[in-house]
Amino acid sequence: MQAEYRQRREQLMAKIGMGTAIFRSAPMAVMHNDVEYAFRQDSDFFYLTGFNEPEAVAVLAPHHPEHQFVLFVQPKEREKEVWTGYRCGVEGAKELFGAVEAYPIAELDEKLPQYLEKAERIYYHLGRDRAFNENLLQHWQRLMATYAKRGTGPIAIEDTGPILHAMRQVKSAAELELIRKATAISVEAHNYALEIAQPGRYEYEIQAEMERLFRLRGGIGPAYPSIVASGSNACVLHYIENTRQMQDNELLLIDAGCAYGYYNADITRTFPVGGKFTPEQKTLYEIVLAAQLQAIAQVQPGNPYHKIHDTAVRVLTEGLVELGILKGEIDKLIEEEKYKPFYMHRTGHWLGLDVHDVGVYQHGDSPQLLIPGQVLTVEPGLYIVPDTKPAEDQPEIDPRWSGIGIRIEDDVLVTSIGHEVLTAGVPKTVAELERY
Ligand code: GLY
Ligand code: MN
Ligand code: MN
Repeated sequence: MQAEYRQRREQLMAKIGMGTAIFRSAPMAVMHNDVEYAFRQDSDFFYLTGFNEPEAVAVLAPHHPEHQFVLFVQPKEREKEVWTGYRCGVEGAKELFGAVEAYPIAELDEKLPQYLEKAERIYYHLGRDRAFNENLLQHWQRLMATYAKRGTGPIAIEDTGPILHAMRQVKSAAELELIRKATAISVEAHNYALEIAQPGRYEYEIQAEMERLFRLRGGIGPAYPSIVASGSNACVLHYIENTRQMQDNELLLIDAGCAYGYYNADITRTFPVGGKFTPEQKTLYEIVLAAQLQAIAQVQPGNPYHKIHDTAVRVLTEGLVELGILKGEIDKLIEEEKYKPFYMHRTGHWLGLDVHDVGVYQHGDSPQLLIPGQVLTVEPGLYIVPDTKPAEDQPEIDPRWSGIGIRIEDDVLVTSIGHEVLTAGVPKTVAELERY
């Protein structure tokens, strides 16, 4: 993998030319008092370095005569390492992570200016750490104070996002391997959930069994808080309490995925707890499934990204009109977003190092086109939230639909000839789901 990290840095450096790019690692985050969360590296930092420690800064200075790649890291300190774990240290940063030069992080302020003073531009993404941002601005200010005398120095700070995130959006073979591993484990867990879910069991039992498999198969754990939502809990998009006892004749919506090697899967399935859909559940389910299948069919290289969502919205709206939940002319209902009380989220997102991965979805008035190597989710749903007040020109909602929430989500790779559904191993037709 080190060769690939180097290749990514070189690709980025070719784009920033006379600039210097600065990346900060994720900080250690406090859960409560002096107990810390498990450390999770910043995705941009990880993408470029593979370096997995906090309190680090990476500098890319392609124009520097010697040090094109510099790491500032926590020094090796036996006493600290006993408490907080192994540190690779300054020497390790060079030997193991390919830094041409490395320093203890405490020397950042002293050593950083030499990498900035001849740069034409600083590339930096303003992070959440205000103090760090402020410190960098002060470095910049000091350099600009002597600009007239030297006639050189960074005259602008540019966000690294647009350049780096366009790179991250198209996955390499090595990245796809990790995503496939994450999806395979998640597929196994969803299939197991289908087997064990039954009336009388608690949502958290299903969550526990799935997350057990995530870890057991070598994953880091859940890619995001697992949603195991039975009955009308499925109408709460981010329901993560998972405390309810499941009943017969209810649907169970499970939105859960595994993180493996820092890459994520994100799968949703909705199925009858007791093995049989009620007629209302089945009717709504078939609409969501049709929307999902038609939306996935739009995942083709060269297609605009927004076509996926547009397609799902159209199929869902047509379905709602057919059932009498919406009334009116389809185009007008779509234009006026009358479907929104029942479908309030987008149809998907990029997937990768982040669950909601980086990369743009639209370039101003021009669409983002699908490119082979992109990975995205396709996740339409319908949610008949209890006590939804219909819009003025819309009919009352028949109570028989109330409380039904359905989402179907797959992870899809754009290929040169179309797409590949990476999570196709979890069943989703009514016939398949009723077999459990
Ligand atoms: N599980 C988060 C999402 O589906 O976007
Ligand atoms: Mn998703
Ligand atoms: Mn999801």
